[in-house]
Amino acid sequence: MNHGFFERNSFILLFGILIVVAIGGAVEIAPLFWVNGTIEKVSGMRPYTPLELAGRDIYVREGCYLCHSQMIRSLRDEVERYGHYSLAAESMYDHPFQWGSERTGPDLARVGGKYSDEWQRAHLADPRSVVPESIMPPYAFLEKTPLDYRDIADVMRANKAVGVPYTKEQIDAAVADLRAQADPNADGVDDFRKRYPKAQVRDFDGNPNQITEADALIAYLQMLGTLVDFKTYHADAPENRR
Ligand code: HEC
Repeated sequence: MNHGFFERNSFILLFGILIVVAIGGAVEIAPLFWVNGTIEKVSGMRPYTPLELAGRDIYVREGCYLCHSQMIRSLRDEVERYGHYSLAAESMYDHPFQWGSERTGPDLARVGGKYSDEWQRAHLADPRSVVPESIMPPYAFLEKTPLDYRDIADVMRANKAVGVPYTKEQIDAAVADLRAQADPNADGVDDFRKRYPKAQVRDFDGNPNQITEADALIAYLQMLGTLVDFKTYHADAPENRR
């Protein structure tokens, strides 16, 4: 009836479209911020350990995300190749998230435990030594570069400010925990394990004399996808129902 008015005035039509789209958007998007089921709770997820967090920063610094996604879609070919599709909860402590939009290399969301530390070391130092047809660039300097973790407590505070639930105890122990994870003989290993359930403790870069950037990056890679236990996770289990 009043269509003619809109259709003869393109700016008024544009304005009308904006209002209608804004209402539609608000109705669809706004509730997600309040509905508890947006990120379903799954057991096993915990904030990253200081060493994993440092490794994650190296992953971001080196731009690994430019070739590797960390999001397995719920399509059959993806699930058969990479494992269970990614859950929202699995990237809830990622700031920024590492889903990525490009796969020059494979998805890494579940690469933890797929290879040994030795394989990861050889692959990072010279990808073609283990995968002859690889086009991944080498990162041999990582195992020669000592990890600079002087600011690791501040990095955790920054993550806490954007919502990662690090406790004061975890932040106070940041440096000790970082060292403990890379050295199974360190004094604080038991306390560290209590603070970060399921954390893997060992010398990741094969060089017990020094904590290097390779230690941190491999600790991070070996943790990816290992926190949620998919043997006990069922998408339709009562605790996951809204
Ligand atoms: C130029 C693109 C490129 C960049 C950048 C890159 N990769 Fe890769 N990556 C690949 C390709 C291609 C493969 C598959 C061949 C192979 O295994 O080397 C791969 C394989 C891998 C694998 C083995 C995955 C599997 O399931 O077999 C890991 C782990 C990995 N990359 C980690 C990294 C990390 C960590 C970084 C950053 C330090 C990185 N990549 C940067 C291209 C890249």
